[in-house]
Amino acid sequence: MTDDHRAFVLAHARPAPVPLVPEIEVYQAPDFVALWEHLCRSALAGPPAPAPPYWATAWAGGQALARYLLDRPEAVRGFRVLDFGSGSGIVAIAAAQAGAASIVATDIDPVACAALALNVQHNVARGALASDTSIEIVSEDWIGHALPRIDVLLGGDILYESPMAARVTPWLRALAGQGTRVLIADPGRNYRPETGCSRLDVIAVPCEPAIESADVGETQILQLHPA
Ligand SMILES: C[S@@+](CC[C@H](N)C(=O)[O-])C[C@H]1O[C@@H](n2cnc3c(N)ncnc32)[C@H](O)[C@@H]1O
Repeated sequence: MTDDHRAFVLAHARPAPVPLVPEIEVYQAPDFVALWEHLCRSALAGPPAPAPPYWATAWAGGQALARYLLDRPEAVRGFRVLDFGSGSGIVAIAAAQAGAASIVATDIDPVACAALALNVQHNVARGALASDTSIEIVSEDWIGHALPRIDVLLGGDILYESPMAARVTPWLRALAGQGTRVLIADPGRNYRPETGCSRLDVIAVPCEPAIESADVGETQILQLHPA
């Protein structure tokens, strides 16, 4: 992530509370769909095509998982946590607030990583995170790779398209088989597993109708089992 990525976030988004998790504020685009369309038009001018601005809105999965962690901090308190596909970092920030021992957040989009860093700074500045909060931000694709030692892997809304779900689900199940507790939150995307998991909670999440075609999304918190 570079100064350009940071400048892009600052130019297109501003801090706002997360609807279901008002304890946290993150940089959000005032009009997420307009920002996405703007990026699509700029991609027509030539490569490289920018990634969709997933970091610029509060996805139902991230909101639900962050709410779950703040209401049940024992899920992460004292544990080494990875927030995979972190986007704006709502889940990683909630894990920090809930008392995780260490937190790594990964996202392949460097702009998301810049947004995440700004969101951590912003929540420290407003007193919602301790000043010594440390979230390691990694802009790499770790699917299929061995991980640093973690106890809990968190994934908010990561099964949003078929190729991604097909790659990540076997890897997550393999990690579960190695003893990692894998918690994902999904608002009913087509690629959510229906078997081989335990449903821990169902949370009604306020949604942006222009994105989700609904005002509220019933979002499941699932623990993935080994294959
Ligand atoms: C729908 S967004 C959800 C973001 C966040 N977890 C939330 O709930 O607000 C999915 C995120 O996964 C990221 N992503 C996709 N493939 C990835 C990969 N292989 N490794 C890490 N992040 C990835 C995308 O860049 C995007 O930010």
